[in-house]
Amino acid sequence: MTASPTLAVQLAPHHSKGLLLRNPVLWAAGTFGLDGYGAGLSSNVDFQALGAVVAKTTTLKPRKGNPLPRVAQGQGWLLNSIGLQNPGIEAVLKEKAPIWAAWQVPVILSLAGESPEEFGQLAQVAEGTPGVAALELNLSCPNVAGGLDFGQVPSLAAQAAARVKASTSLPVLVKLTPNVTDIVAVARAAEGAGADAVTLINTVVGMALDPERLQPVLPGATGGISGPAIRAIALAMVFKAYRELSLPIVGVGGISCLQDALELMAAGATAVQIGTATFADPTLPQRVVAGLGPFCARRRLASIGGLTGAAHRERPSSTSPSTSAEALKTSKR
Ligand SMILES: Cc1cc2nc3c(=O)[nH]c(=O)nc-3n(C[C@H](O)[C@H](O)[C@H](O)COP(=O)(O)O)c2cc1C
Repeated sequence: MTASPTLAVQLAPHHSKGLLLRNPVLWAAGTFGLDGYGAGLSSNVDFQALGAVVAKTTTLKPRKGNPLPRVAQGQGWLLNSIGLQNPGIEAVLKEKAPIWAAWQVPVILSLAGESPEEFGQLAQVAEGTPGVAALELNLSCPNVAGGLDFGQVPSLAAQAAARVKASTSLPVLVKLTPNVTDIVAVARAAEGAGADAVTLINTVVGMALDPERLQPVLPGATGGISGPAIRAIALAMVFKAYRELSLPIVGVGGISCLQDALELMAAGATAVQIGTATFADPTLPQRVVAGLGPFCARRRLASIGGLTGAAHRERPSSTSPSTSAEALKTSKR
């Protein structure tokens, strides 16, 4: 009998502590249960089986969020403008971190500041808190004034990442917006400032009109699009970033089945996050985890890490049926 494939992935290979996850499937920020911290998930949702969970983004001060309505949806997309509603980092660390510390799944704390200094301050507040395994910097929320600036200007992204790196002993992931001409330039700036990994992508700016009133559904007119509609965008950005960067990439955007996760990894992601699809099926992340071992076995991969970047190494050809692309086509959805 052959040994079971290794599903563990390392997201911070150059960090002194590293960020070794038991598998490459993470729950995306802001989508973990009703409140972004896991509320309301039923007992059949085995989130502890995942590689990690990213908690909803928290800020220095509590935030009420944007006026209602904050969401709209259509075929294959969700539009949201939550506006970073959260009770503030002190309340989150006091009330949630003790619970996280008792979980076996690592929790990544997502932070959003209004200046590079504030990002550093947030990291300082979180430093040493049991239950926080790593930080993810949300440089990319399209739903707050100035929320996009950090992710759109490479030097600001670098400053925020550098401030955080100077204030924390934890691995740092930097989450970027797709609403730029060149996401790689921003990712490279974050890499240069010491980011351990980049998370690509946050939501894509979009809007919806009320068909009767012909007015924007959201009070602020625009919001962030997520779900299957943005999967091809995430795929292209991860693919491009993998070619040009050397740090690990966490791919996120539009995953709604095992195949989608595999494709994002083949494009270059070391791990993936699942968000919007969990609202319809909160067991999807654990089902994706369950599908990884059989996929590796079919592909004769000793480790799921062998899938990362496969789309760059092999091209489908009529004479070679057993390419990664063929294997992906035949994998179970
Ligand atoms: C309702 C909602 C709330 C979100 N809140 C956050 C957040 O607090 N922080 C963050 O970094 N991303 C947030 N996101 C973005 C997701 O983490 C993810 O990057 C994006 O939705 C794309 O992935 P998906 O298509 O799988 O949802 C949110 C997305 C949704 C739909």
